[in-house]
Amino acid sequence: MKNTEIFHLSSDENENDRILKYSAEVIKNGGLVVFPTETVYGLGANALSKDAAKKIYEAKGRPSDNPLIIHLASASDAEKYCVVPEIFYSFANKFMPGPLTVIMPKKDIVPYEVTGGLDTVAVRVPENKVANKLIKYAGVPIAAPSANVSGRPSPTKAAHVIEDLFGRVDIILDGGESVFGLESTIIKLDFDSVQLLRPGKITPEDLKLVTDNIIIDPSILKKMGENERPTAPGMKYRHYSPKADLVILEGGISDIRTFMKGEYMKTYIGILCYDEDISYICGDETDKQRLVSMGKINSPEEHAHNLFAALRNFDTNTNVKTIYTYLPSRQGVGFAVYNRMMKASGHTIKKL
Ligand code: TXA
Ligand code: MG
Repeated sequence: MKNTEIFHLSSDENENDRILKYSAEVIKNGGLVVFPTETVYGLGANALSKDAAKKIYEAKGRPSDNPLIIHLASASDAEKYCVVPEIFYSFANKFMPGPLTVIMPKKDIVPYEVTGGLDTVAVRVPENKVANKLIKYAGVPIAAPSANVSGRPSPTKAAHVIEDLFGRVDIILDGGESVFGLESTIIKLDFDSVQLLRPGKITPEDLKLVTDNIIIDPSILKKMGENERPTAPGMKYRHYSPKADLVILEGGISDIRTFMKGEYMKTYIGILCYDEDISYICGDETDKQRLVSMGKINSPEEHAHNLFAALRNFDTNTNVKTIYTYLPSRQGVGFAVYNRMMKASGHTIKKL
């Protein structure tokens, strides 16, 4: 059990700098620091140290064949760690710093312990000021998976991190709620194409501003078979899961609302819905641990922001055994929300 220190970042820049310099020293000395980013919280360690990478896998309980993203202060640092194709700069100019991760062939300096034995490495330049300064002060790239225990929804608040990792890391930096709320978009640059491995805030339409040749990895849309290997090893695991079973309803909206209303009567059922559904399902007496809205139906940004917190919220009510929900539109950012909801449910669908 580690003696975890928690620091709240405030509007006082000098105080923040002191905390970030102290945290950067801990990273340089091989320690683990959880930090906020614009997507979700990250569990960070020195990306050039094998031992530090091992500590990350241990703290998360994560299989060590699942590679880590290395976080850089500036896109121009990518050349130190990867063999960079020309097209990288077109993506970097448009989307970095920001919620885009790019996979490229790695250079020797990046240990295989960080890349799960692969010859490629994933790089990202976070926009969040705290994250960016921490990397600068550390003077090394920071390897960081999402700061959850493996299999749980990614953390979007320091409270989620404390739930999962208190006593397992050296420092938790509380920088408030993650602005976006889902993990970064991941692309892999190949010789003549770009593969989308995980959808996020940067949508396929955004990526097409750089090149039309975007290939969507099949693991984004469908369940992988026992013997299939998705291009991003992490996409094969059941993920983002609340403790109860999540079931996706398919059918007309009025059938869905009627079904949800009937099921909500039962104390072991949870409902994950949208603001417009609430009045159909129940009156004013909402039990917040059993009925959670992800926001207005036409606002994918709200769904992205709220989904993981909503899934964790159901875990606080141990009576809930099954959660019913339905999918929002797949347009724009909705594509990422759709992907995470499908994964959280293990692709469990009930047709009405
Ligand atoms: O928004 C994010 O990306 C957050 C914040 C903390 O930056 N990080 C994050 O990391 O979501 P993680 O480890 O939870 O997810 C990284 C995903 C995994 O699915 C992993 O398999 C994939 O990226 N990945 C990493 N390196 C890869 C590589 N070289 N080839 C293929 N997939 C890779
Ligand atoms: Mg993760």
